[in-house]
Amino acid sequence: MFGVNADPATTADAGGELLGVDKEIYLGTMLQNASNSKFRLPEKVKPSEFFEKIDPTPGEPGFNEVIKMPEYPKGSLFMQNGLMAASPGYKVAEQINGMSAYQNTLAPPPYQPTDDSEVLKHGAAIFNKAGCVDCHSGRYFTNHDVIAQRKIGTQPSRAQASKGFAKLFVPPQTYPPNVSVPLPPDPPVIPVPTDITPKEDIELAYAQSDPLGGFKVPNLIGLYLSAPYLHDGGVAASSEALKPDKKGFKVANPDQLGIAGTLLQNIQPDPSASLRVLVDRNLRKPVVAANRANSDLQRVNVDGSGHNYWVDKQAGFSVKDQTDLIQFLLSIDDDPEVLLDR
Ligand code: HEC
Repeated sequence: MFGVNADPATTADAGGELLGVDKEIYLGTMLQNASNSKFRLPEKVKPSEFFEKIDPTPGEPGFNEVIKMPEYPKGSLFMQNGLMAASPGYKVAEQINGMSAYQNTLAPPPYQPTDDSEVLKHGAAIFNKAGCVDCHSGRYFTNHDVIAQRKIGTQPSRAQASKGFAKLFVPPQTYPPNVSVPLPPDPPVIPVPTDITPKEDIELAYAQSDPLGGFKVPNLIGLYLSAPYLHDGGVAASSEALKPDKKGFKVANPDQLGIAGTLLQNIQPDPSASLRVLVDRNLRKPVVAANRANSDLQRVNVDGSGHNYWVDKQAGFSVKDQTDLIQFLLSIDDDPEVLLDR
């Protein structure tokens, strides 16, 4: 779709109110070392005047093809930065609705689970018993709630990332779908309903009701392809990192834990081992420590902490319970072999 980060130039007009950065300084900073020499700011030229000359979409903010929403340069819950991606020749929202419909058809390739459906059924029962289902419920394994950072306890920095935008929010409005792009003068305007999302979730997502904000409960489809885990990607272990012994799983290769011991070493995180370090507190501790010992990872706020929902010995689960839960989690594709019966 369209993220503010897809085209930082679009934030220039709101930069003053949002970031306390003057428009000329904002554009100048962005363009002074542009990798494409065509867009590189020459000496002694006013950044906004230079930008007007090189702008591939004159009359619209930024480089990309966009239209201004009624509230621009303020934003709204509907369009965070007050802009909608739209190319000339289309109707308003025609492209983004088409993209949404396409994304709804995307699914990970089917997973070939263990032949043993008893294992999966047992794993699903552990998922229920451990309370995972309180948040990861329904067909897509999410209740769509936003959970306060204070409660979920994962790396906190990103939960506040959108706080500034909400300060500039006004009630969302858009143009009817028969309006064409570029917009005519004085196009009609209609309100966008926001009552499909509970107000408390919105306020938490934008760190309004709680300055630390929150994280949305993600779906669990395709976990077998998507290691490392959690929003910061810090929960990771290689296929060699753990070894079973009589009492359970132990760290066999401490230097293959976390992002520090996997992706930064060109080693792919292993989904099964990474899920085990997610749900086992004794194994997670050295993962978080490995990430925290790496200063590059700390600069980008990756540690793999929090989400302390354990399926381990201290929580009263056996090694088989833990392993079957992991098999169940890996089996969740677009058409899971075993669903939760509740
Ligand atoms: C209180 C609600 C809640 C409970 C209970 C809960 N989760 Fe989560 N889960 C979340 C949230 C919120 C996230 C996203 C956190 C983040 O990324 O910072 C998450 C993330 C995950 C992820 C990572 C998904 C990914 O794509 O990276 C997995 C796997 C997961 N949970 C499995 C479980 C399992 C297994 C249990 C039970 C042992 C469980 N969860 C219990 C709310 C919950």
